[in-house]
Amino acid sequence: GHPELATLEQMACDLAMSAGRLIVDERPRGLGVAATKSSDTDVVTVMDQRSEAFLRERLDQLRPDDGLLGEEGAQHEGSSGITWVVDPIDGTVNYLYEIPAYAVSVAACVGDVRQGGEWSTVAGAVYNPVTDELFHAHAGGGAFLRRRGDVQSLSVSGEKHLAKSLVGTGFGYEIAKRERQGAVVASLIGQVRDIRRIGSAALDLCSVGAGRLDVYYESGLNPWDQAAGQLVVTEAGGVVVGRGDGPPDKDLVVAGPAPLVAALKSVLKV
Ligand code: IPD
Repeated sequence: GHPELATLEQMACDLAMSAGRLIVDERPRGLGVAATKSSDTDVVTVMDQRSEAFLRERLDQLRPDDGLLGEEGAQHEGSSGITWVVDPIDGTVNYLYEIPAYAVSVAACVGDVRQGGEWSTVAGAVYNPVTDELFHAHAGGGAFLRRRGDVQSLSVSGEKHLAKSLVGTGFGYEIAKRERQGAVVASLIGQVRDIRRIGSAALDLCSVGAGRLDVYYESGLNPWDQAAGQLVVTEAGGVVVGRGDGPPDKDLVVAGPAPLVAALKSVLKV
């Protein structure tokens, strides 16, 4: 890997861990629901906003020339070519209910991520502050999991058969879309080992990187949900694709070992 990318990766790790400690230490004071966005299922806690403000201030100090895109609305254009894409709490509903599957996702990206053009992640980290698991990667450097002082290198599952696969997915917040996604799950459940809805797309992708899920798909994800996790999957030897031969986008993300991604896409007919 490139030395500058290793520096960005270290920065992503530090930021994700600091924000992760903030959201878990201050959780009792952070639970107020600040707003519901597209529907009652789409909540924003006070802590989503505090964690994003923390990340924005730190990045302003550390990397004043870089751009920013955050889930809760923080964004500005930079001049360096790097844009930080942050999800201050991915898995907000788990956070609200104290289900230990939420994370802070921090990614350094290149390309047109703020305007919906083509982009890719060059370094990133996803930190689950409850399990103290830090997933991180930079382009060309491999993917790693650091847990209780121990670092292990990650690789995707070696499973080849969809029928023996544990499949992750998630649901968007728009009601009509959720109903369509439920119908897809109904048709898939008889064809796979089982299905998990972990509740954090960032952790879903990192789970694929770690081989804890064989394959994962979701439609309707935003860049902040997937930016860091995508790189963890590809650096762990997997692929992340969208519809047809296209790159992953808002429409569809399928991630896993290449043969399983192909098999899942043919079953999903995308
Ligand atoms: C959500 C989670 C969830 C996924 C949704 C995302 P948030 O992010 O990643 O697993 O199914 O599509 O919006 O709102 O908790 O940051």
